[in-house]
Amino acid sequence: MCANDLRELACEIVRCERCGLSKTRRNAVPGEGPEDARIMMIGEAPGAAEDLAGRPFVGRAGAILNRALNLAGLDRDEIFITNIVKCRPPGNRQPSADEIRACMPYLRKQIEMVRPSAICLLGNVPARAILGVQGVTALRGRVFDDLYLITFHPAAVLRNMGRMELFVSDLVRLREMRFGSNVR
Ligand code: URA
Repeated sequence: MCANDLRELACEIVRCERCGLSKTRRNAVPGEGPEDARIMMIGEAPGAAEDLAGRPFVGRAGAILNRALNLAGLDRDEIFITNIVKCRPPGNRQPSADEIRACMPYLRKQIEMVRPSAICLLGNVPARAILGVQGVTALRGRVFDDLYLITFHPAAVLRNMGRMELFVSDLVRLREMRFGSNVR
């Protein structure tokens, strides 16, 4: 990987053939947001809408995320949003361990380039892939290493709108973390 900035990295990602997902995707979804974003959000993998658009969280889960960000007083344009794997797994199955391993260098590079002060892990897949923990229902709202905040995946909120209030309260916490001293 020889990218010098997020744009070059995105060019590498859209041409990537490191795993079998490259054969079934329409578009890779590198992620989007400012290079100097203080907040990064990490989802699981692109869904059908994201695969078509080449952009993260533009489908139904994205609509929930947008609403929750609004309610929490956060501006999506100031957040770098990406996923653990950059290509859609067929039928929206969870990405396999091999696919996650193949894709992880891109995420590590994105974190290194953006150097966010707060990283929000949306659901079990990113929580497990990055922190090695699982059980979002119990772990949501918890901060690890002064940097990572675990919360629900927006699709889980969509399935049970009773979770919206907790989801928004986690995002308010995230907003408060953005001027933390950790990485910057
Ligand atoms: N779900 C995710 O985890 N990521 C997206 O980009 C869209 C839906």
